[in-house]
This record gives sequence, structure tokens and C-alpha cells, in this order.
Amino acid sequence: MKNYTSIHDIDNINSWIADAKKIKANPLKYIELGKNKTLGLLFLNSSLRTRLSTQKAALNLGMNPIVMNVSGDAWGIEFGNGTVMNGKTAEHIKEAAAVVSQYCDIIAVRAFPTLTDKTKDESEEVLKSFVAFASVPIVNMESATGHPLQGLTDALTISENTKVVKPKVVLSWAPHVKALPHAVANSFVQTMQKMDVEFVISNPEGYNLNPEITGDTPIIHNQEEAFKDADFIYTKSWSSYEDYGKVLSTDPNWMITKDKIGDAKFMHCLPVRRNVVVEDAVLDSDSSLVLEQANNRTYAAQLVLKKILENL
Ligand code: CP
Repeated sequence: MKNYTSIHDIDNINSWIADAKKIKANPLKYIELGKNKTLGLLFLNSSLRTRLSTQKAALNLGMNPIVMNVSGDAWGIEFGNGTVMNGKTAEHIKEAAAVVSQYCDIIAVRAFPTLTDKTKDESEEVLKSFVAFASVPIVNMESATGHPLQGLTDALTISENTKVVKPKVVLSWAPHVKALPHAVANSFVQTMQKMDVEFVISNPEGYNLNPEITGDTPIIHNQEEAFKDADFIYTKSWSSYEDYGKVLSTDPNWMITKDKIGDAKFMHCLPVRRNVVVEDAVLDSDSSLVLEQANNRTYAAQLVLKKILENL
């Protein structure tokens, strides 16, 4: 594998899950694989889990990670082609990506969407520019429209925790005070579409995700109906896709409560706003898998880096 930019880079989800489980059972088995190799982690946006788990994954493979907060510490990067650079940006992605490629064997990038310019966000300008102008493999640490490291993590977590062959998995929208990206939800949808699960999405009217991503997946606007017989309830807030980037509702009736989830396991990528998205009683109960998910971020990233290192 050259790049890991989307869930579509996973050729066989079941074999990837099996490989991730093996890595988790023996995380240092491939400590020699990344010897003398450098992973550059470039953050244009904040992170806790991705930042630490991807470094941990690199260290488990014997790699040397270098982390840079691009937005605060680097020159402002210009992504436009042919732009007259007489504004705020001081360095073009053509030079920046090529320069970083001389220091790093793999580059991982986090770049959130604008949530104001749908066309620009859907073009994945930042991620695709790194792919185009870097001479080394690129890993997506959450881009404008996808978070494939999180999606792989969630597949692993569901596989580890399911008690039935074909679990029912619900992705539920939840209220939030801020307009949030669609990336985690998109990648979760794409991941579940690859798995042998009964999968439904539940969100209010006006909050349907990109129909090119949801495809044939059922969308149920009644949360109670969607949650019936669920084994896993994955919750995420996202802003409207149709009325792009807008917060159309903060209806607290969509918050996840202990009463609503019944015997289902609760999942969220974190960070999560307590008692806005989900009540304490869920997060503080045995129903919650959020810490297991965060732990699995390391093994998902390690599998991705291992596959890329084996192909260098
Ligand atoms: N889930 C996730 O990507 O967490 P961070 O934003 O903290 O990296």
C-alpha cells in the first residue's frame, strides 16, 4: 500500500481486522521494520488521540516520529495553483511537501474542512496536494471528508466486542454547540458498509450525510425506532451537509441516555461533550467503549504504517 487516505484503501476489512488484532496481541513484534525510518506528523488542527496514538504506533514499529503543528509553527502554506502569493501565505505546498519528503519516509496529515466552502472541502485540497507534491506515502489523520484511521479503529472495536455474528449497528447524530465536520461519520459509514453488520443511520431531517457516501444505507429520522434491538450505538455530532456547515438543531432529545441505549454498547470517537452529546450515566457505565476505541487507535495506525513500510 502506498497511501492511506480513505477507507477505500482497505482491500479486505476482515483481514485487516485480523491483522490489527495480531498487532495488538504483540505490539513490538515488528520493532525492526521501521528502524531508521521517520514519520512526519503534520497537524493543521488540534488533536489528542491521533497525535499520541500515531506516534505510539510509529514507536512500536521502531520509527522516529517528528511532530509539527503546521498552523501555529510553520509558514502559512499556499495550496492554490498559480496564486499570486502577496497575501498571508508564505510557502507553497509544492515546496513544503517536497521539503518535508526529504526529512520523512512517511508523512501523516491532519487538515479539517472549512465547513463554509463545500466545493473546496469536497476537493480535499490539502490532503490531495500532499499526495500530489510529496515524494513519500501520505496517511490521512482526518481530512475534510474522512477519518479513515478512526474508521479502522471502530471496525476493530466492534469486532472485538460483538456477541453475535451480524450485530445491529446504529450511527446516531447528536446535538452539539458547534458546527462539526462530517469526516468521522463519513468514514464510519464507509467502514460499516464493508462489514457484515446490519447498519442504519439515525439523524434529524436536514442532517442527512452526503448521499454519495450513505448510498443504500437506511436513514431513520426517528431515533427510538432506529435504536430498537441495536447492539452498538455509535454517536457523532455533525453539521448539516444539505445546508452546508450550518447548525440546524440542538434538540436535546437527541442526546444519548442510558434509558435509550438499553443493552447496546456505546461508541464515540472522542472528544465528547458530556451531557450535551451523551449523558454521564452512559460514559461512566460498562456500556461505554470509548476508552477501548481510543486504545485501538494505536493498533489501527500501527497496521497502516506497517503496510506502508512493507511497501517502501
Ligand atoms: N478521535 C480523534 O481523532 O481524536 P483527536 O481529535 O483527539 O485526535
